[in-house]
Amino acid sequence: MLNKFIADTIPYFPKKFIWLFSKRYVAGENMDDGIKTSRELNHRGIMVTVDLLGEFIHTIQEAETNKNEYLKIIDRFTSENITGNFSVKPTSFGLLIDKEKCYSLIREVIVKAASNGNFVRIDMEDAPCTSHEIELYKRLKEEYPKNVGLVLQAYLRRTQSDIENLICTSHSKEFPLNFRLCKGIYIESEGIAYKDFHEIRHHYLMDLDLMLRNGVYTAIATHDPYLVNEAMELIKKHHVPKEMYEFQMLFGVAPALRDKIVADGHNMRIYVPFGKDWFGYCSRRLKENPRMVNDIISSMFVRS
Ligand code: FDA
Repeated sequence: MLNKFIADTIPYFPKKFIWLFSKRYVAGENMDDGIKTSRELNHRGIMVTVDLLGEFIHTIQEAETNKNEYLKIIDRFTSENITGNFSVKPTSFGLLIDKEKCYSLIREVIVKAASNGNFVRIDMEDAPCTSHEIELYKRLKEEYPKNVGLVLQAYLRRTQSDIENLICTSHSKEFPLNFRLCKGIYIESEGIAYKDFHEIRHHYLMDLDLMLRNGVYTAIATHDPYLVNEAMELIKKHHVPKEMYEFQMLFGVAPALRDKIVADGHNMRIYVPFGKDWFGYCSRRLKENPRMVNDIISSMFVRS
């Protein structure tokens, strides 16, 4: 209860206070911070995907700026030999302002990534964006079949049929679909989303099973130890080769589980957010997971 209260009132806290816990979950404000964290993770045998925090935009000029920042990040990754790729949120490229412009800006990022043999993942946002983001992925995958992927959310009632449709329309052995499967972080209504914790887990595993047995490249994004164990069973059951899946986690979350998965020989990629808009990212995660409040309290006492 107390955690929820603190999470709900977070916009009224001083930013400096929020930074006390945010620094565990965000690499920093600048590109150099994102590169430094990525390099450290690479040294531990972990790949990264970087996310520039800037999703709350109001103009296409801001979307252009975000696109230019991504082009710079891709150059830095290439010149500094970072093992990692790029995650983009279509709303930060103007999805809700001008869909066609959003497509062309993300396309520019993909063109740049592809020219460096790299890859861009389209994050999945809240329900008004779902169909647009799936369409965007389908269109871009036709043009760049090896360089773009999508996120799907197990809590949405539509996801199983979205996967089936995408397998029918956009999947081949030569150019498999590339999905990240997560539970879903936005607050959605019961009409369109499963709300019960166990039901979400159940559907996560159904979706994962569908992906793995159909030869979809699958990024298993979760910190839930139960799902991690069940995912490992499914990998064995369907004889999924190591080059067809990876585990993914958020920077700063569940490092012990992360290290165990790596020690067991699985590929791991960490989602590394950085940028000036860290406040929006952290308050949203805090609202979703009020248990993070414990981190705020402990970070006031523990030096890191
Ligand atoms: P669950 O919420 O049950 O958490 C399992 C354990 O991890 C718990 O102990 C919990 O306290 C801890 N934990 C989880 N999240 C934490 C956090 N942020 N801070 C501290 N502790 C935390 N969602 C989405 O809608 N669109 C997207 O594009 C993405 N992208 C994405 C990428 C990657 C790499 C990951 C790992 C996750 C996402 N998500 C996402 C978020 C995802 O939908 C989900 O909200 C979180 O991963 C939490 O769900 P878990 O499966 O970890 O289980």
